[in-house]
Amino acid sequence: MKIQIINGPNLNLLGKRETSIYGSESFEVYFETLKKRFPSVELQYYQSNIEGELVNKLHEVGFSFDGIILNAGAYTHTSVAIHDAIAGIKTPVVEVHISNVYSREEFRHKSLITSKCIGLITGFGLEGYAMALSYLTRG
Ligand code: DQA
Repeated sequence: MKIQIINGPNLNLLGKRETSIYGSESFEVYFETLKKRFPSVELQYYQSNIEGELVNKLHEVGFSFDGIILNAGAYTHTSVAIHDAIAGIKTPVVEVHISNVYSREEFRHKSLITSKCIGLITGFGLEGYAMALSYLTRG
């Protein structure tokens, strides 16, 4: 089973960035833990700060992988292009946010991508990625 994790803008700074909101662990370190927790999954990780590169990655994996876990970062709230990319691919996408976007600024309450995802996990910290993986790998 092949699953792609895609992180959007500023998520390369996890562990350094606003640690009171996003925690002090880098995604690279967490990714190693995830791979150990889900040894039977072929897990890949991609991060970009560039909207079009996120669209390209969705196209690249979206017809062959079994699942995509997407944290589109701030593009969640603005990107028609990412909405359209998810709508255009076959692989199911789970939307993940580390913070609880509904307890934060109002501009984070609107997601342009949720309607094209199978579900949304928000507010459980990095554990949200493991929760998404549990769903995608359920028997
Ligand atoms: C985020 C929430 C977004 O509103 C924000 O722009 C991010 C991270 C999260 O994981 O909580 O960059 O997607």
